[in-house]
Amino acid sequence: MPMAILYHEEKHIFTLQTTRTTYQMKVDEFGFLLHLYYGGKITGQMDYLLTYQDRGFSGNPFDTGNDRTYSMDVLPQEYPCLGSGDYRSSALVIRNGDGSECCDLRYVGYQIKKGKYGLSGFPAVYADEKEAETLEILMEDPVSKVQVVLLYGVLEGEDVITRSARIINQGEGSVVVEKAASACLDFLGGNYDMISFYGRHAMERNFQRIPIRHGNFVIGSRRGTSSHQYNPAVMIAESGTSEDAGRCYGMVFVYSGNFMAEAEMDQYDHTRVLMGLQSDLFHYPLSGGEELLVPETILGYSGNGFGRLSRMYHKCIREHICRGKYKDQPRPVLINSWEAAYFNLSGETILKLAKDAAGLGMDMVVMDDGWFGKREDDNSGLGDWQVNEKKLGCTLGDLISNVNALGVKFGIWIEPEMISEDSDFYREHGDWVMRIPGRKPVRARNQLVLDFSRQDVREHVFGQICQVLDQGNIEYVKWDMNRSLADIYSLEDVQGKVTYDYVLGVYDFLEKLMQRYPDLLIEGCSGGGGRFDAGMLYYTPQIWCSDNTDAVDRLRIQYGTSFFYPVSAVGSHVSAVPNHQTGRNVSLSARGVTAMAGTFGYELDTGTLTEEEKEEIREQVKKYKKYESLIRTGDYYRLSDPFKDPYASWMFVSMDKRQALLNVVMLEMHGNMTISYVRLRGLEPEASYQDVGTGKCYYGSALMEAGLPMPAQMGEYLAYQIELKII
Ligand code: GLA
Repeated sequence: MPMAILYHEEKHIFTLQTTRTTYQMKVDEFGFLLHLYYGGKITGQMDYLLTYQDRGFSGNPFDTGNDRTYSMDVLPQEYPCLGSGDYRSSALVIRNGDGSECCDLRYVGYQIKKGKYGLSGFPAVYADEKEAETLEILMEDPVSKVQVVLLYGVLEGEDVITRSARIINQGEGSVVVEKAASACLDFLGGNYDMISFYGRHAMERNFQRIPIRHGNFVIGSRRGTSSHQYNPAVMIAESGTSEDAGRCYGMVFVYSGNFMAEAEMDQYDHTRVLMGLQSDLFHYPLSGGEELLVPETILGYSGNGFGRLSRMYHKCIREHICRGKYKDQPRPVLINSWEAAYFNLSGETILKLAKDAAGLGMDMVVMDDGWFGKREDDNSGLGDWQVNEKKLGCTLGDLISNVNALGVKFGIWIEPEMISEDSDFYREHGDWVMRIPGRKPVRARNQLVLDFSRQDVREHVFGQICQVLDQGNIEYVKWDMNRSLADIYSLEDVQGKVTYDYVLGVYDFLEKLMQRYPDLLIEGCSGGGGRFDAGMLYYTPQIWCSDNTDAVDRLRIQYGTSFFYPVSAVGSHVSAVPNHQTGRNVSLSARGVTAMAGTFGYELDTGTLTEEEKEEIREQVKKYKKYESLIRTGDYYRLSDPFKDPYASWMFVSMDKRQALLNVVMLEMHGNMTISYVRLRGLEPEASYQDVGTGKCYYGSALMEAGLPMPAQMGEYLAYQIELKII
């Protein structure tokens, strides 16, 4: 097999090749590491792209003597540092022992290794020696002896490159890392747009596309989690790029805490994009010999629009991030008690849901919030992970046995990182919460955050959670996290590291949970999709996408989510109408079709269903199970923009292209209705596909070029699912 990583001895050029992309950088005569190229596959050395004009007004490194054409402020770089004469946004900011902020990284050496590097304690892309190679480039500041190992993982077949950095203080004195990114992309010229995904609780991951112009555009999180407000994944696209044409890049941060993504067009119209740790609330001290790991960013490039980029990320996340038993397994169709009963649950409620679930063909019942301590609403009880047997009317063990006896699996909700002030746990261990001494803490949902940077705190909670999970055959856990961090301070940890160590603590807890319960399916959640990121997906192969279960809003939330995250990761349920978050009425069929673009389930009181509705649900579950493998492993194509088009549409195509499932939900209805033609994607142009429902046949090319007319049926939010098969 040809090497994916090549080093050109004479020119000191590193080339990273994947099936369709090339990444190139060069060590120049002064030891600076310059970025040369990232994009569609090319052959040859790209150093001809570097041009040298008089840049005397921009600053020139001392080593270049009287050569005013050499400026760090102009040249594209791999890991730009503050204080080096590059005045653009920096990947690294170091405060030295003498108070100066400067780091002058020069090349020391490199290593190429088989396989993909790992990042101890952090989630990261994994791949075996046949699938990946690693490049490590060692850089050093000759004065402070701060070293940076730039890590590049190349997954040739997946067309992705990962980047990360280890920052090591090899000097005697102490330094503070004030800012650290894991990836920088410098583009020479061009007009790029930045696409990011913003939102709020119950309305996550809206698509925003803005041109990158002079100045800085920054998104990120200071909330301790990746957040509802901005997702840690962005695209950079040439201005004309669309769903299936044009150049675009992805940067996905494999991290669940504070982050920052920056885009800047500089004075010479070059564009720089950075992805890494948030610099606010972060001052990471390094004494001599200590090091800091920067979580990784997954880079991807597509010359064929967003659709291909998304599919690359879907596959990479599914196969190289998600782990555990359920990585490649059908996920249980579940019914969750939250919107069915909220806090008003009992053993009877759960058993009734389980009975109905069994009759409707579902696999699992999940007992959501309200089963422990004193928890009649969200003002108390968190931390008291003792089963409230009085409320349940039985022991947890008995409840689980009774559920299992119906042929239904059992799952449970937990929120380990949190504590209510009104709890025995708080009364005993009030000093385990995050708060700044002498100040009153910020409350959110009337709860406080435990200091998960502390091992003793984690161990205690872990023990409590295990004693619950050991009470019966619990096959699923919904791990929730319902507020942002504030009052960043730890009684035990070094200040400046706390937000970083908190996230490491969460990962450590999850890792231990996975090891102790290897068959457990863990679904992530944070007030819905407030921690929906590739970092969490390393531990939880699915994440509750949003607390908003309204199908119309969900279509948009799932549209935004689909740019990077695979359908197998998207927790999605059918809920009751009028919807509890919006009051909207959407047909059961549209709710079903929408929820089938995810890990399907229900979240409603089955006691209120009519016989007709039950019958329809029975059919829905059957249908989902029939298509489950196609949905989970097939290629996903977006066919419309539900923010702009009168319908939402997407499709799944099997790897061999022999089977496809088209999904359409009509969003608008008017008098004398116009016809919507949905153009399909991803089919075999020459093949004839049969619509399994009607028996009609169409060529793939016709379906893709001209599309299918949608029926002009009257009714709001009508939904269609059309299975197509090569016959
Ligand atoms: C969060 C979750 C919900 C539900 C509640 C319970 O909001 O996102 O699904 O579990 O907490 O309190």
